[in-house]
Amino acid sequence: MARSQWGSRLGFILAAAGSAVGLGAIWKFPYVASQNGGGAFLLIFIGFVFTLGIAMMMAEMALGRAAQSGAVGAYRKMGGKNWVWVGYMGVLVGFLIMSFYSVVGGWTIAYIIKSVTGEVISADAKHLGSVFGSFVSDPVQPLVYHALFMALTVGVVLGGVQKGIENLSKFLMPALFVMMLVLIARGLFLPGALDGVAYFLNPDFSKVTGKTVIDALGLAFFSLSLGMGAMVAYGSYVSKDTSIPGSALWVVSLTTGVCILAGLMVLPAVFAFGFDPAAGPGLTFITMPAVFAKMVGGQLFAVVFFILLMVAALTSAVSLMEVVTSFMIDEFHMKRVPAALSMASLMFVLGVPASLSLGEWSGYTLFGKGVFDLLDYTTSNILMPLGGVLLAILAGWKIWPEIHAQLGGDRGERIVWMPAMKAISCFVAPALVGVILVYNNL
Ligand code: TRP
Repeated sequence: MARSQWGSRLGFILAAAGSAVGLGAIWKFPYVASQNGGGAFLLIFIGFVFTLGIAMMMAEMALGRAAQSGAVGAYRKMGGKNWVWVGYMGVLVGFLIMSFYSVVGGWTIAYIIKSVTGEVISADAKHLGSVFGSFVSDPVQPLVYHALFMALTVGVVLGGVQKGIENLSKFLMPALFVMMLVLIARGLFLPGALDGVAYFLNPDFSKVTGKTVIDALGLAFFSLSLGMGAMVAYGSYVSKDTSIPGSALWVVSLTTGVCILAGLMVLPAVFAFGFDPAAGPGLTFITMPAVFAKMVGGQLFAVVFFILLMVAALTSAVSLMEVVTSFMIDEFHMKRVPAALSMASLMFVLGVPASLSLGEWSGYTLFGKGVFDLLDYTTSNILMPLGGVLLAILAGWKIWPEIHAQLGGDRGERIVWMPAMKAISCFVAPALVGVILVYNNL
């Protein structure tokens, strides 16, 4: 049976960007950059994105198209049975990410409602901080929204409304872009905002530690949806005549663009309103309402912003859920409905302690981290980079001729960077990521 394919190159780029652009860029990037001192972090992040990031993106897509199957099948077919477990690990990572991702997805829904009621339309930093704090630490409310977000995701995966979502993203992605530009423009005129811009753009290398480097690496993998096989599945639907390098460059650039815009949107507001730059996961949720409060029609902007954020999160969540669901279908011959429902229920259950760890259960920690942080840290900073290294080794050492052919072979225009791609796969990725992983985790 012929595998279904994306309608066009643009459709492929948008779908892959829809998976990549999500909470990683808009929620996680600003607070992680902010916690890590701003400018220097941004440079290191960009460095990773345009070397390892782009190379791994191309390798995943090429692997998928060469094998004509999703991650587990692709590793089995191209690598042999010793490699299958890299595919399994990807499924596990998808499962773990989704369990806390949908908790944050739930926050976006809650903030749509809080914007409608006006609860968060305020320029009072203290008030906004306490609204967020008491919401996420509440034992019941976030769980209700968590369930709601999970149900929406399953609804899309089961209802087969992916096409609908894809078409919707064609409008929502540009809308998100424009919205961010408007918010940046407003934010920059707030008194004190330029300190935030300086913090974000001026590299201060004295702030760089091992943690900065591993956080930048982990965030690069997380926000580009790399290291767990999602892009392998996407690559398997790419038609023969679509250029993978060109598409990958677009996806990586778009996602990085949104990350940078998110930083420019959030950090000036942090400084203008005197929030704590090290505030953590609440940063986007706490600071943006303060900017809305200073805008004409701010409440409307707030509602639209959180809706866009929710949809961006949903398009990413759908791709995570799809990886896990299709694994259960392919490997255990489950039917689609029970596969999606059972996995979603399990993810929901795992999300419960993640959510509670921000409140009632904050006392329960392992290695100094609560469940939420532990899930986030292990997936982004350990398992995804590890998945990336293993993929690089497979691509560079074992199946390079296939990867090379998928990337356009020896056609003139490619020759310039092809050796770089091979060097990254064979040496740079394994060595660099290996050193960072060992240094940070031993
Ligand atoms: N990139 C997504 C975001 O930034 C989250 C994500 C991480 C993801 N890994 C993934 C999405 C794998 C799909 C597949 O929000």
